[in-house]
Amino acid sequence: MRNKKILIIGGAGFIGHNLALKLKKLKYNVSIVDSLQINNILWLKRNKDQLPFPNLSMSILKERFKLLKKNKIPLIKIDVRDYKKLSKVFRKTKPQVVIHLAAVSHANKSNKDPFSTFDHSFRTLENSLDNSKNKIFNVEQFIFLSSSMVYGNFKKKVVKENDSCNPLGIYAALKLSGENIIKAYNQVFGLPYTIIRPSALYGERCISRRVGQIFIENILNKKEIVIQGDGKETLDFTYIEDLVNGIICAIKSKKSLNQTFNLTFGKAQPINKLIYFLRKNFPKVKIKYTKRDRLMPKRGTLSTAKAKKLINFKSKWPLNKGYQKYIDWYKKFYNN
Ligand SMILES: NC(=O)c1ccc[n+]([C@@H]2O[C@H](COP(=O)([O-])OP(=O)(O)OC[C@H]3O[C@@H](n4cnc5c(N)ncnc54)[C@H](O)[C@@H]3O)[C@@H](O)[C@H]2O)c1
Repeated sequence: MRNKKILIIGGAGFIGHNLALKLKKLKYNVSIVDSLQINNILWLKRNKDQLPFPNLSMSILKERFKLLKKNKIPLIKIDVRDYKKLSKVFRKTKPQVVIHLAAVSHANKSNKDPFSTFDHSFRTLENSLDNSKNKIFNVEQFIFLSSSMVYGNFKKKVVKENDSCNPLGIYAALKLSGENIIKAYNQVFGLPYTIIRPSALYGERCISRRVGQIFIENILNKKEIVIQGDGKETLDFTYIEDLVNGIICAIKSKKSLNQTFNLTFGKAQPINKLIYFLRKNFPKVKIKYTKRDRLMPKRGTLSTAKAKKLINFKSKWPLNKGYQKYIDWYKKFYNN
């Protein structure tokens, strides 16, 4: 298992760099491909007005690159929409496992710009798949990061992988289409795959402005917190380390092949619970409630029973522990 060659496409993002660091620690032979142009450093340099605290986000991104460099993880800078350039990378790195993360990874941004989202999420996926199916490369496993958004509004308190999918909006529709095209590559070319559905991730060095991050960032910058809806809505908040460990379980076990897994903490909590933990650290939090986004599905718990049974996945970071660890890291980083 060690020394297995792993190529992470879109690997300089939030999930990718955390995953690469852990894989390297476990002695896998890991390389990253990324254009750095979406939700990353080259984009931020040109779009400082798009984030409320651009200098803070820039420092976080620089910290990612520092860690990748320190751990000698190669970062190949190409745009994965370019098929030929990606083929060259496959020839050079000869990956046994390909993990596809490249995307416009934000539902709101995807709805605002469907054209570019298709390009960076779907064109890139097609290029990764088509190279992976090429027999000269011998790819043993193609891992795709889908999303809990594929289910749409949850019809039950706990959703399982085989429950129906009714995506809302561009991001979720592309994720479900991605899952289907991967299955088609398996049917036609026999490319073994694993589809992973995470949810509500939070953790170190994220700049994507999802709730867990926005709240801490706003407080540190003395801005109020805005909650869309009444805060009673629940999400299966998942600490990045649980997801990373779950992906590693999927790499280690052959039972993950040609399967779809929910990989989350496995117990949804109301958004207001984040405020409860934040108040323990910052007693003077100011909160404003606004109208919820109608295109954001009402979600809840994702069952992780299948991942437990087949690939021995066990989440270890309940919200109280994981969010506190993240708050501690953020405070230290901010103060430095
Ligand atoms: N973070 C979450 O909460 C979450 C939840 C569910 C699913 N996902 C999915 O997991 C994946 C990774 O998410 P993330 O949070 O790390 O996102 P991210 O935005 O931090 O990282 C995505 C990376 O892909 C790269 N990329 C995009 N287009 C590219 C292209 N054309 N060529 C090369 N690189 C390109 C970007 O530069 C960026 O570094 C995405 O597919 C996302 O949809 C994320």
